[in-house]
Amino acid sequence: MPRTVYVNGSYLPEAEATVSIFDRGFLMADGVYEVTSVLGGKLIDFGGHAARLERSLTELDMASPVTMDALLEIHRELVRLNSIDEGLIYLQITRGNPGDRDFAFPDPEKTPSTIVLFTQAKPGLADNPTARKGLKVISIDDIRWGRRDIKTVQLLYPSMGKMMAKKAGVDDAWFVEEGEVTEGTSNNAYIVKGGKIITRDLSSDILHGITRAAVLRFAREAQMEVEERSFTVAEAQGADEAFITSASAFVLPVVEIDGVALGNGVPGPVATRLREIYLDESRKAAV
Ligand code: PDD
Repeated sequence: MPRTVYVNGSYLPEAEATVSIFDRGFLMADGVYEVTSVLGGKLIDFGGHAARLERSLTELDMASPVTMDALLEIHRELVRLNSIDEGLIYLQITRGNPGDRDFAFPDPEKTPSTIVLFTQAKPGLADNPTARKGLKVISIDDIRWGRRDIKTVQLLYPSMGKMMAKKAGVDDAWFVEEGEVTEGTSNNAYIVKGGKIITRDLSSDILHGITRAAVLRFAREAQMEVEERSFTVAEAQGADEAFITSASAFVLPVVEIDGVALGNGVPGPVATRLREIYLDESRKAAV
């Protein structure tokens, strides 16, 4: 069955879905995106993703082509049309097609935003074997722009980071700026020391992860101690555990940083417990 995608108001087979070569998403990376996971055919943390999308649009002075209520219906319809049980929904909104290339933003009255959504089926997303094995990461310089709190489609450097990790024979990379870890290439980064969960505080240095917000809330509800502050790679290497969070990974343990094994070199109890709590609670709250 060919995949059905959504483009500017229409549900179409993927081969029939097109966007102009003049689209500013294509020419300028002038667009924002969201990734929402699906478990049991339902959307995880949809409200958080919709709220962050609105914020990203506002920060870039970009108009939304749909209301947030309509967006929920489009997500649900794509899940239904593509029979997604476990997987992801990718959403992108760009500043549209002004019909030519120009650095200046087009008049939004004349150039409507482009909206695209598609599904990615991922059977086994929740029962990920990496959760039992853990991830190995390297640290790399964070040379991204200064507004990482806006979820833009400028993902060239994060892609290069994933390739650096691959070349080094590991799973992912953590960005480091002025000696401190900002976040992972496509996830938020945490360490655990003496039972305390430590993760960088929110600012324009990192993406305000929707999974991060939920996981920290669940951790506090479970009486776990949380400290929102920066940490160095050396501190992370001396931690008892580490982990990452994102909409596609949920919570995944990190067992090695720059060749140094953490603790016993196996997934730690805090990361494992948080993954269980996150999956249980998110399934209950899924829409
Ligand atoms: N990435 N930090 C960065 C740089 C990210 O790209 C992401 C998400 C996160 C985690 O945010 P959330 O918990 O809201 O997914 C943090 C998505 C999954 C992606 O690009 O595929």
